[in-house]
Amino acid sequence: MTRTLRNALLGTAFGLALAAGPAGAATIKVGVVAPFSGPFGVAGKTFREAIEVYQAQHGKTVGNDTVEFVYKDLDQANPAQSKALSQELIVKEKVSFLAGYFFTPDALAVAPLIDEANIPCVIFNAATSAITEKSPRYVRTSFTLWQNTVPLAEYMAKQGIKKAVSAVSDYGPGLDGEAAFKTTFEKHGGTVVDSIRMPLKSTDFAPFMQRIKDSGAEAVYAFLPAGPTTLAFTKAFSDTGLKAAGIKFFGPGDLTQEPDLPALGDAALGVTTSFNYSRAHDSAMNKAFVAKHKEMFGSTDTVTFSSVGAYDGVHVIYQMIKNGGGGKIDGAKAVESVKGMSWESPRGPLTIDPDSRHVTQTIYLRTVEKVDGKLENVEKEAFPKQPDYGYKVAK
Ligand code: PHB
Repeated sequence: MTRTLRNALLGTAFGLALAAGPAGAATIKVGVVAPFSGPFGVAGKTFREAIEVYQAQHGKTVGNDTVEFVYKDLDQANPAQSKALSQELIVKEKVSFLAGYFFTPDALAVAPLIDEANIPCVIFNAATSAITEKSPRYVRTSFTLWQNTVPLAEYMAKQGIKKAVSAVSDYGPGLDGEAAFKTTFEKHGGTVVDSIRMPLKSTDFAPFMQRIKDSGAEAVYAFLPAGPTTLAFTKAFSDTGLKAAGIKFFGPGDLTQEPDLPALGDAALGVTTSFNYSRAHDSAMNKAFVAKHKEMFGSTDTVTFSSVGAYDGVHVIYQMIKNGGGGKIDGAKAVESVKGMSWESPRGPLTIDPDSRHVTQTIYLRTVEKVDGKLENVEKEAFPKQPDYGYKVAK
């Protein structure tokens, strides 16, 4: 054997040994399905950035295993495509976890896949209560519409508001928001004078604004998926004179998500929302999270609710890997191992409810104000330990 050939062979053997790493080490892949392009592309960006922040703070390894994220772009709610991409992640990429899912229909579509492949699916956003009822392998680290709406509707009734109108996007989370609002607001003495459902793809909100005005309500409760939809709706509320007419504007915090605040400008001022996270949340952990984000990406403009949905989702995935003791993941056991898990998040304390597999958390009442010249959702009240009130509720 020539010296060069021998060296080359030795080099290869050494290289292989290095790639294999310490005994028992594996690469554990997590497939993330989300919008990374198109009108909702900011959502995927917030997921990805938060994943990178988490890995920068906590490392890319758990025990001997390296955790690697594989991203698939799903630019809009499209359940068939969500299923196809998730299937590809399972079969071709051999992922041990599925994660992400911004829109409810995309999360719902993978229930049969995760059961068949015995893979946990950690939902970073999709917020319809019924999702986690469809498979025991779903865990959710975001919020639900019931969770945000119950304390908000109680607050509105306590403010003395008697007549309100709801306006929601006509699909899963909107219908949950509408039901949670009507049930709670009327229980506390209010009346919902009209329940408006708007097509998910609406871009012209003027006719709905007219209907809100005509309803004679003192206040509106609104839900639309965060993005161009909420931006256009909130702007229309101001531009068509409803704000000036004194109609009060409430809803879950999707309406005033941080990435839209600069474009909303003064239209956002004074809007009161209930939500699980504000970039301005005052805690040491949130300050560290926001500062790390700024250090890595140069700005905090995209730090919002979907960021913590992903950040905490990665925390749960790391814990499931730890609990499994390394190597191959048994999906059913992994989910079982995090039931009841509690931890501190940049948004406050979280616990995975063992029944719903959804996070119990503090919901904050916030108002948009200028802080040092920058619009922020400033927390005014906190409602601790809010569960998913919509889990297994007859709908
Ligand atoms: C959902 O489809 O569940 C969804 C999407 C965007 C949001 C909230 C919920 O802002």
